[in-house]
Amino acid sequence: MARIVGVITTSHVPAIGNAIARGLQEEPYWKPFFDGFPPVHRWIAREKPDVAVIFSNDHGLNFFLDKLPTFAIGAANEYRNEDEGWGIPVSHAAKGNAALSWHIINDVVNDGFDITMCQDMLVDHAVTIPLQLMWPAGDWPAIVPVSINTVQHPLPSMARCYELGRSVGRALASYPEDIKVMVIGTGGLSHQLDGKRAGFINREFDVHCMDQLVADPESLTRYSIPQVVELAGAQGVEFLNWMAMRGALTGAVTELHRNYHIPISNTAAATVLFENRPRAERRKAA
Ligand code: DHB
Ligand code: FE
Repeated sequence: MARIVGVITTSHVPAIGNAIARGLQEEPYWKPFFDGFPPVHRWIAREKPDVAVIFSNDHGLNFFLDKLPTFAIGAANEYRNEDEGWGIPVSHAAKGNAALSWHIINDVVNDGFDITMCQDMLVDHAVTIPLQLMWPAGDWPAIVPVSINTVQHPLPSMARCYELGRSVGRALASYPEDIKVMVIGTGGLSHQLDGKRAGFINREFDVHCMDQLVADPESLTRYSIPQVVELAGAQGVEFLNWMAMRGALTGAVTELHRNYHIPISNTAAATVLFENRPRAERRKAA
């Protein structure tokens, strides 16, 4: 059985890619953000996950407004990145695990999610930057990319994304191979890149969301998409990726680490690490 050891979520602002490429991690602008990662690196070194299931949103590299699936899952053994026009270096390809992808696709379709399955899929900064942040040496695990539409309305609801995550979590629990999986959510937190509210950030709502992700994630499903746009900004809806990520955690969830820093570019940048322990194990330890 695949075992979910925990989740890590982080913002995926493209400028982070530039800071990494230019070695700016210790500069005063960047240090408070990059300082959030040593605990993440230590946890990854200890847990050594075999696979990362990544909930993120494509920004026009793989899907565009003409054809934009609400939910898409990669089913490839390799995912390439290409130039997205942000001026950041094109990253090396990520390995996939097509067998695990197909298992997840089968199960979530059985659960009633009408998934677009992608045997050929590019991944953009929403995948490559978190991987670079978490595995700075480039030794990324195999990935299963799950793409959620946070770009073109109508978007899936908070509840639907949480349920998608739960379905993925159940699929992982029924995977016959004994592998360690970590789940990654990317994007957010509050930000708005354009329009009258460009630069909008809402620390109070961000902190509330991070707190509730541990304490009572279902309470967050009461926010409608217009409310999330209002409270978190037009691009703050990337929190949908975080909702799906949290849904995948089936065990007892403990927050091990959190870093929140305003701003990186236009974004309230957050990094969170949750451990997921089987409930029985937790009872035994108590
Ligand atoms: C920024 C944030 C994003 O989430 C993104 O996809 C692109 C840019 C920004 O703050 O610059
Ligand atoms: Fe984004």
